[in-house]
Amino acid sequence: MALRGTLTVPGDKSITHRAIILGALADGESVISNYCHGQDCLHTAQAFRAMGVLIDIGPDRMRVSGKGLSSLREPDSLVDCGNSGTGIRLLAGVLAGQDFFSVLTGDESTRRRPMGRVVGPLREMGAQIAGRRGGELAPLAITGARLRGIAYRSPVASAQVKSSVLLAGLFAKGTTSVTEPALSRDHTERLFDYLGIPLTRHGLTVSLAGQRSFAARDIPVAGDLSAAAFFLVGASLAPDSDVTIIGVGVNPTRTGILEILRDMGARIDLVNPRVQAGEPVADLRVRSAPLRGITIGPDRIPQTIDEFPILCVAAACAQGETVISGASELRVKESDRIATMAAELRRMGAEVEERPDGMRIGGGRPLKGAVCQSHGDHRVAMSMTIAGLVASGETTVEDTACVATSFPEFDKKLRGLLTPSGQG
Ligand code: S3P
Repeated sequence: MALRGTLTVPGDKSITHRAIILGALADGESVISNYCHGQDCLHTAQAFRAMGVLIDIGPDRMRVSGKGLSSLREPDSLVDCGNSGTGIRLLAGVLAGQDFFSVLTGDESTRRRPMGRVVGPLREMGAQIAGRRGGELAPLAITGARLRGIAYRSPVASAQVKSSVLLAGLFAKGTTSVTEPALSRDHTERLFDYLGIPLTRHGLTVSLAGQRSFAARDIPVAGDLSAAAFFLVGASLAPDSDVTIIGVGVNPTRTGILEILRDMGARIDLVNPRVQAGEPVADLRVRSAPLRGITIGPDRIPQTIDEFPILCVAAACAQGETVISGASELRVKESDRIATMAAELRRMGAEVEERPDGMRIGGGRPLKGAVCQSHGDHRVAMSMTIAGLVASGETTVEDTACVATSFPEFDKKLRGLLTPSGQG
């Protein structure tokens, strides 16, 4: 069935987390418009409320009353980050620099994910952090401290690690710098620039001088390219489709999906480019096109990291083989996305070979409807829904409550494109 029409997608999840955090630490009030309504970001807002920050959450905008860098007070209970790896890791950076005790936790998936990658550098800066397996797993009990700046060389290209250390750097004495092995998404750096927080960049190193207050500024959040990706692939695969997604963030550290889909033969046009709170934004028009398989190596992973579940669906429907390598980070996302996508696509008849750091997808075998599992992972649930749309017969995706962590209206938006009027 064709997808046709015009729609918007939720505000970017990564930017929304950062806007709430920096809004809470700024001097004065920030209005965050087009914020992501997903549970992940609401957990971050709730964490700051528990630390005494007034946040008024309206349907279209969030009003954050920042009280400056030393505004937070000790939360009197556990801080629950839900399903959000970004929430827990970025909050760890903030909490490391407070003069109080706090405990960060999350749901079952979050409590399985590696935390040592932020705990290590935050301890080096002077915070005391305890957690299961020596601090590798949440809950994390954080005794904040007067931090000192460090020069941290991260072994992983992770925006969460970079951002956690930079946020701790806001409270630290001296300069904090982070060097990463490849450039990860740079929303933190862009938001620091937008808010006038001085930051320097040299190649893959970002540095920040600590203990400088900054003034609040309204933050209009760009649409989430990671949410748009489901429609980009759906409309590419479903014959006679023509979909326009308005106001999507096209930050070059995120646009791997656009480049890869175009290399696979997709017809995607960027129109009406503009800049919003320091982030490039455009409208994306996508029309159906036959896709072909592709080889995706390590150099393309960071800027595409969250789009592999839906790219696997594109690859399964493309002509020819797709090979993905250098993507072992996929194993520590909301689910092990190499294992979960391989298992679910196989249920629909795709030929998928799992590898330690990626996969090989045969391509070209028509997908058959099946009963699929989300594994509690929102992106797996949405990807398998798109797979179901282009498969023959009926598909059921089970355990889809997780979709609300990032895109509560996914279902409604998708149905909107399936209606004759096409207004999503
Ligand atoms: C994010 C960074 C990425 C990404 C996640 C959001 C962020 O994780 O997968 O969904 O907002 O900083 P890593 O930092 O683990 O690569």
